[in-house]
Amino acid sequence: MSEDILVHRENGVLTLTFNRVDKKNAITTTMYQTLASALRESAEDDSVRVAVLQGAVEIFSAGNDLADFLKNPPNPNELEKAPVVQFLQALHAFPKPIVAAVCGPAVGIGATMLLHCDLVYAGDNAAFSLPFVNLGVCAEGGSSVMLPQLVGFQRAAEKLLLGEAFYAEEALDMGIVSRILPPGDANAYAQAQAAKLAAKPASSLRVTKALMRKSQPGMQDMMLAEIREFVQLLSGPAAKEAITAVMEKRKPDFSKF
Ligand code: COA
Repeated sequence: MSEDILVHRENGVLTLTFNRVDKKNAITTTMYQTLASALRESAEDDSVRVAVLQGAVEIFSAGNDLADFLKNPPNPNELEKAPVVQFLQALHAFPKPIVAAVCGPAVGIGATMLLHCDLVYAGDNAAFSLPFVNLGVCAEGGSSVMLPQLVGFQRAAEKLLLGEAFYAEEALDMGIVSRILPPGDANAYAQAQAAKLAAKPASSLRVTKALMRKSQPGMQDMMLAEIREFVQLLSGPAAKEAITAVMEKRKPDFSKF
């Protein structure tokens, strides 16, 4: 199991902590595997009543590890088996409440995973971005459907097509975030809320969450469709130019694509 994700179970709460701060908690294939396994096991484990997803005070997650994604892209013929897909499917299907604490940058899947969480507490230093188009790929993590549903088409288009960062206050206004806190308090607050949930009747929580998520049918298929397009674009020239430019810390040149 990767130490880049800390998995801790205590008092009915599964806590998953991104622990690769030197690489801004960029998520590798191994980290997706760890996250997916922990969620799947905990979905079946009655001793787990709530999950918490958290990062560090200065960074939640820089999203996909770009080098790892280029080196080990999901196999288009076995997309269901790709660790990123396994993670997204396990997160979306998780039948118990998920609480997230987000401080610092939440980029790409670091932001879209929050759409599948039930309570999201943001540090006032949280900075969200969905830079898929700027990277020559496309929206993933259900965001092409969930974001327009949540915030309206035009506002979602601004975030998904321009890919510019937005901050905690706007995320609260958009309904992506439940509350804003001082960054040093966010993880502790998420834990306190999780402890409250863990003391409630598990079956009532499960049924209420299932009823609330009923308004999002077909999300697993939609996420697969997104990843299929994403993987195809990832092998194209625009993505190569964009990702190389990020690695080389220069501006990409899309004039030919
Ligand atoms: N994949 C792989 N490595 C990443 C990464 C990613 N998504 N994001 C950051 N890193 C690495 C950097 O390469 C750098 O490694 P190095 O120290 O070996 O050079 C280290 O993490 C620190 O990153 P840096 O960019 O110097 O930190 P910062 O504080 O200036 O900026 C971010 C933080 C998150 C704003 C910035 O790193 C960023 O924009 N990352 C890319 C995010 C992205 O495009 N994600 C993909 C979404 S699909």
